[in-house]
Amino acid sequence: MKTIRSVAVIGAGTMGAGIAGQVANAGLDVWLLDIPSEGDNPNALAQRGLERLKNPDSPGLVSEAAAAHIHIGNTRDDLHRIAECDWVAEAIVERLDIKHQLYREVAEHLSDTALLSSNTSTIPISLLTQGMPESLAQRFAITHFFNPVRFMHLLELVRGDSTSDAVMDSLAEFCENQLGKGVVRCRDTPGFLANRVGCFAIQCALHEAFAQGIAPAEADALFGRPMGIPKTGVFGLYDLIGIDLMADVAKSLVSILPAGDAFHAVGEPLPQMLAMIDNDQRGNKSGQGFYRDHHAQRQVFDFASQTYTDFARPRIAVAERAEQEGVGVLLADDSPHGRYAWSVLSQTLCYAAELLPEVGIDPLAIDDAMRLGYNWQHGPFALLDQIGVAAFVERLVREQRSVPPYLASKAACYRVQEGVYQRRLFGGEYQAVQRPAKVQRLYELRRSLERCGGNASASWYAYRDVAIVEFHTKANALDTASMQVIELAMDGVEERGLKGLVIHNDAQHFSCGVNLEAVRGFYRRDDYAGLDAFLKHFQDVVSRVNKAPFPVVAAPVGMSIGGGFEVVLHAQYVIAHANSVTGLVESGVGLVPGGGGCKEMLYRHAAREADIDTAAWKAFMALGFAQTANAPGQAQDLGMLRTDDEWQINRDHLLHEAVELALTASPRPHYRSPIAMAGRDAYAKMLLWLQRALQKGHLSAHETVIGSAIARIVSGGDIDPGTEHSEQDLFDAERREFLVLAKSHGTQVRINTMLDTGQKTRT
Ligand code: NAI
Repeated sequence: MKTIRSVAVIGAGTMGAGIAGQVANAGLDVWLLDIPSEGDNPNALAQRGLERLKNPDSPGLVSEAAAAHIHIGNTRDDLHRIAECDWVAEAIVERLDIKHQLYREVAEHLSDTALLSSNTSTIPISLLTQGMPESLAQRFAITHFFNPVRFMHLLELVRGDSTSDAVMDSLAEFCENQLGKGVVRCRDTPGFLANRVGCFAIQCALHEAFAQGIAPAEADALFGRPMGIPKTGVFGLYDLIGIDLMADVAKSLVSILPAGDAFHAVGEPLPQMLAMIDNDQRGNKSGQGFYRDHHAQRQVFDFASQTYTDFARPRIAVAERAEQEGVGVLLADDSPHGRYAWSVLSQTLCYAAELLPEVGIDPLAIDDAMRLGYNWQHGPFALLDQIGVAAFVERLVREQRSVPPYLASKAACYRVQEGVYQRRLFGGEYQAVQRPAKVQRLYELRRSLERCGGNASASWYAYRDVAIVEFHTKANALDTASMQVIELAMDGVEERGLKGLVIHNDAQHFSCGVNLEAVRGFYRRDDYAGLDAFLKHFQDVVSRVNKAPFPVVAAPVGMSIGGGFEVVLHAQYVIAHANSVTGLVESGVGLVPGGGGCKEMLYRHAAREADIDTAAWKAFMALGFAQTANAPGQAQDLGMLRTDDEWQINRDHLLHEAVELALTASPRPHYRSPIAMAGRDAYAKMLLWLQRALQKGHLSAHETVIGSAIARIVSGGDIDPGTEHSEQDLFDAERREFLVLAKSHGTQVRINTMLDTGQKTRT
């Protein structure tokens, strides 16, 4: 196997810059080359690629420091640099002749052992390697990354006839361990796996929506969360990708897929879309597509009137039920919505099943590709099991549709046999699901574990002498039941003599905070004593996590914000994914963190700052502006994570690492001594700042009310400077202020707007 230590990426466009960024995120040096530009700066194109990585809206780098690993250049002056590199990744324009020309030039400089790969989406490897010396073809593969490279987990790895096993293994090892990718090895078939199935699914969802008269917002509410598909659905995804780009992608798939492929029926762009492209409604990049944001109002395009109308999230009861109970209830619903869902999903699942054995005999590869490349919660074959393969096939037969050969036996796609999780290969044989040593996915692992306890919000499992708590509500919103499961698991650790506790899940987000619907229930019932008890329970649980006589490790992925981040803040150890987003964002909905978040921010800033006034001010600002960090390193810089909290570039490694830590680490209870508060002068300064911001129009009246509540917690309010507050005093202050705000009209409007429309409002 070749150890990869230095890398060059050629082509500094969307993908090349992204790949170089991820190499830099791994802490390795990388050359990023593009064609020389006319004018003063021959490296202008690579320079632009580097600048794009720094875009705060979609940061390709985990830290500013990572940028120092990227060296930019051009292919005229700097191609010789690749002589030092172990791997050269080509990500230039999708033209075979231009790629061939580049490979010839690269071959002149490449070392005899270096690896070369292409990021091509559509060109078969057999064509890429045409005319290539055999000694280079053996070291050549396709490494197909997804956009944006930092955030998309999937890497499709494709070998040619000549590619050696050692080359495949080296690239797989490097991309998994250094670049944090989930590597799926694919055959050299058109579109590989994820785009083949994914493009079919979205094209089909789009065509059927127009054919059946389902409006975009409705289609997204159906072909989205109820199926475990991201809430961008189909039309939202089109806007994200770009309607013009998606039309090009579909066109190129049409050009490479065999004539009988079902994609041809849905691959052509619809006249409505062509008109939109002409009209510069190309999606998010042109400011409008199927949706747009207009004066802070989300709007959706209405094809009948050819205008944008205000968007309100459609409430489709059966779709909401499906989110809780599984997609089966939606598919069984004899309504236009149910029929749309069935027609899109059944065609998509049949399409995926028909691909076996052409793309390989393993359904797991397709499921992995859809989970990692399109963020589907379940791949097509896992969905088939959820629906029931037999029931699915029987419905196809009733509808006189053909049954894909893989499904003819009606046997389940996955099963657990004697504690081993297996999938059914094409041909019928079940084979154990085996992953590289550190790759562990809770949704797979738990299939063969005993569920020791739980409820509708969370579950806990025992695994290798460790308790694992998994949240599983929508967006992993936390309620009393979620917190009760943490308590149950902590009891379980002690009763069963386990060594520690891990809090982890592999949903898209660790937790988006406390369940606001539960909070609204309390104020609608005027039950403020109940709300106080709810918060007190939350605080007691995180406090117990913090002081447990065994290690408690939080392993967050995606967003852990609000209450979700308060759980992380109180874990004794944190191993976060490199793309974790953390922050206390309660002020956005008119609240203050009420589960120890204010307390922790004050203690953490106090430990870093020279005096308590500065610490209180920083906590005031961070909480007031709902500050978030989009990488663990940034969270450490902002005092949100401790300097010894760890992070992992591969989210699949988190569980393994967290369990190892829980098995081996000592308990680290965090007893906080009382803190000498900044007191009334600091409080007055904060109030003055709020008043000035109000006068300048930077804050609304209610935002100053929220700000003053935060100010009272972190300064202590109208008390003598130096007055000591215990941890419990700070917990109590959080609850007090939370209740004041929850009773206020301004906060209730914010929460209602958020829950009813999904939008924020700044009253
Ligand atoms: P892009 O158009 O954003 O960037 C291509 C870059 O290559 C440009 O900066 C261009 O100046 C440069 N270039 C062209 N000829 C060159 C040469 N001879 N030497 C050096 N640089 C050269 O394209 P994008 O989207 O980054 O795609 C690159 C490759 O990745 C293509 O093969 C594409 O099929 C593939 N791909 C694209 C994905 C996407 O979402 N955009 C996803 C996965 C693969």
